[in-house]
Amino acid sequence: MGAASAAPEEGHMGVKVAVLVGSLREKSYNHRLALALQRLGPPDWEYVGVRIDEVPHFDQDLEDDAPDSVRRLKETIEAADALMFVTPEYNRSVPGVLKNAIDWASRPKKRNSFAGKPALVAGASTGNIGTAVAQSHLRMTLAYLDVPAMGQPEVYVKFSPEDLIDMEGNVTVPDTERFLRGVMAAFARWVETVGAGRVAA
Ligand code: FNR
Repeated sequence: MGAASAAPEEGHMGVKVAVLVGSLREKSYNHRLALALQRLGPPDWEYVGVRIDEVPHFDQDLEDDAPDSVRRLKETIEAADALMFVTPEYNRSVPGVLKNAIDWASRPKKRNSFAGKPALVAGASTGNIGTAVAQSHLRMTLAYLDVPAMGQPEVYVKFSPEDLIDMEGNVTVPDTERFLRGVMAAFARWVETVGAGRVAA
C-alpha cells in the first residue's frame, strides 16, 4: 500500500483484488453483483477472477502435491492484495463449490493463501434475507483463516427486479447503485486501514 501520508486516491493505487464468486450459473446474480462492485470501485483497482470451478473435490492426500488447477488457484490468491467473496446462499450456507475452493486454498497447513488479506463479503439472492446466513457461515471460516473481513456495511442484496444488475454489471436501480458505490468506498478505506497482504502466512 501507499505511504500513510499519500492522498486517498494515491493510497488506492495498484490494489489487486482476487474475486471469488460462489455460483457457476451463467446468468448468476452474484456474478452480476461482483461485476457491479468492480465497476463502482476505485478506477485504478485491478480484479482477477479466481477459477473455483477448475479444482477437483478436496482430497487431503493430494494437498502436498496438488493438481495444477489448485496451484493456479493458490497463486492467484497469493498474488492479490485483497479479496472479494460474492456468494449465493444454498440451503442457508455457503455453496459447496465455494467451500471446496476455500478448503484447497487454505492448505497445506502452513500455506494458507488467504492469511492477512482484507476481504469484502457480499451476496445476492432471490430470498428476503439476501444471503445473510451464508455470509455469517463464511465469516466464521474467514476468521479462522485469519482474513480480516470488513464488518460494515453488510451487503445483502435481494435481487429484484430481475434486471436489477445486467450481465455487464450495470445497476438499473439508482438507490442500489448508490449503496454499492458506498460499499466499495468503505472497502477501499478498509483495505487501506488493514493494509494489503501479498505474502501467505
Ligand atoms: C437456493 N436459493 C436459496 N436462496 C436463499 O435466499 N437461501 C437459501 O438457503 C437458498 N437455498 C438454495 C439452495 C440451492 C441448492 C439453490 C440452487 C438455490 C435460491 C438462490 O438464492 C437463487 O437460486 C440464486 O439465484 C442463486 O444465486 P445465483 O446463481 O443467481 O448467483
